[in-house]
Amino acid sequence: MTRHAVVTGASSGIGAATARSLAATGFHVFCAARRTERVTALAAEIGGTAVTCDVTDPASVTALAEVVGERLDVLVNNAGGAFGAATVAESDPDDWRRMYEVNVIGLVQVTRALLPALLAADDGAGIICNVGSTAGRIAYEGGGGYTVAKHGTQVVTETLRLELWDQPVRVTEVAPGMVRTDEFALTRFDGDAEKAAAVYAGVAEPLVAEDVADAITWMVTRPRHVNIDELVLRPRAQASQFKVHRAH
Ligand SMILES: NC(=O)c1ccc[n+]([C@@H]2O[C@H](COP(=O)([O-])OP(=O)(O)OC[C@H]3O[C@@H](n4cnc5c(N)ncnc54)[C@H](OP(=O)(O)O)[C@@H]3O)[C@@H](O)[C@H]2O)c1
Repeated sequence: MTRHAVVTGASSGIGAATARSLAATGFHVFCAARRTERVTALAAEIGGTAVTCDVTDPASVTALAEVVGERLDVLVNNAGGAFGAATVAESDPDDWRRMYEVNVIGLVQVTRALLPALLAADDGAGIICNVGSTAGRIAYEGGGGYTVAKHGTQVVTETLRLELWDQPVRVTEVAPGMVRTDEFALTRFDGDAEKAAAVYAGVAEPLVAEDVADAITWMVTRPRHVNIDELVLRPRAQASQFKVHRAH
């Protein structure tokens, strides 16, 4: 029987790479994001199903669950992102709300809607992989609303794992460090390409989306008794959030 996977935020970056990787591993992938043309093209490329979905909108999430149906093997809660890099004193509370909405509430809504299907997965092998971040492990100046939101992603993951301990579903988190994707930093800096490029300046080899997709694919294809609670991956040049090797 073909295994089914849902990837949220599949229209770019890590989500698109994960959808491709899971499809190459034999999954039928439901590619969910707000930009219809993007997910439609991706689904056509990988033989999956495109679903226009805003994870922050309850009706949209209900519609996603209806398309997915009664059985689901893998849920990758990847939709998320950062808006702004202001200090706490200067930040806009609306940015904080948007980050909490997508990185925490959206993830919770999608999980709630798809949990019954995950519990019905073949052989009790259902698995959730939440895409957190090293920003969910540490505080940094200007990280404000994003670090708070990604700490939230981590705590939701842990809570869910505790609550579902006797259920046939696994709960995991992948926490990447610096990943050079086309849109993440651009979105964070509201389209300012110079500021976005500065994030990766001098770093010879940041992670790329395919590195994270590879890690997620490995995590969700372990035997059903194996739960990779959390997997932190960074580029070699990033020993910590504050220690990045940059060639000048
Ligand atoms: N890049 C990094 O350095 C890095 C590091 C650690 C963790 N992460 C995390 O990895 C995930 C993917 O990031 P990325 O680097 O691949 O960035 P990205 O290319 O900006 O991807 C973000 C994805 O989320 C989707 N999305 C945003 N809001 C959404 C919503 N309300 N409903 C549904 N989909 C939504 C976007 O699609 P639409 O706009 O089409 O909806 C897009 O496909 C995020 O959770 C991010 O926080 C990134």
